[in-house]
Amino acid sequence: MKMLKTLVAASIAAASVPALAYEAGDIIVKAGVVNVAPKSDNLKLDGVGTVEVKDDTQLGLTLTYMVAPQVGVEVLAATPFKHDIELEGDKIGDTQHLPPTVSAQYYPMSPASKFQPYVGLGVNHTFFFDESDSINHLGKSWGLAFSAGMNYEIADSFMANVGIWKMDIDSELDGSGNDVEIDPLVVMIGGGMKF
Ligand code: NI
Repeated sequence: MKMLKTLVAASIAAASVPALAYEAGDIIVKAGVVNVAPKSDNLKLDGVGTVEVKDDTQLGLTLTYMVAPQVGVEVLAATPFKHDIELEGDKIGDTQHLPPTVSAQYYPMSPASKFQPYVGLGVNHTFFFDESDSINHLGKSWGLAFSAGMNYEIADSFMANVGIWKMDIDSELDGSGNDVEIDPLVVMIGGGMKF
């Protein structure tokens, strides 16, 4: 009888895994502030000067679908970013863009851990719109995106999150053959819920 009680107790303990334990089929929705900080010296025009694309902060949303306890697919979306564009430090225009990014993620920790760091590799598609007349047009960009981040369980199903993406975004200026190398570091800080 004592043996049976021990077995029952052990099976109850095994069943009461933390609420956040990651499982295939889980959906994680996160929201937060996202800063897109382009690298410096985005385009050097001979005899004209250096073009700089400035940074911007917007609201971001990520949706992650866990295809396995340690493997997820993440989509990053955000409200449109608006970047000032400078030539030799003087503003010459601005542009808006959206950089949707889809990534495959790997979570190395045990699925039951409260602390869930992850790394990801994905594809970014950036399209520009509402460019000022001086810019006229920036071509769309496809590129790789490397990412890393961590979720930390703060209560049942609720988590705090920090995510970072390094995106390869190169956009052709006015069909001129000159690529504006934006290649930003993207940082999102926020929280989320697992369903
Ligand atoms: Ni690039």
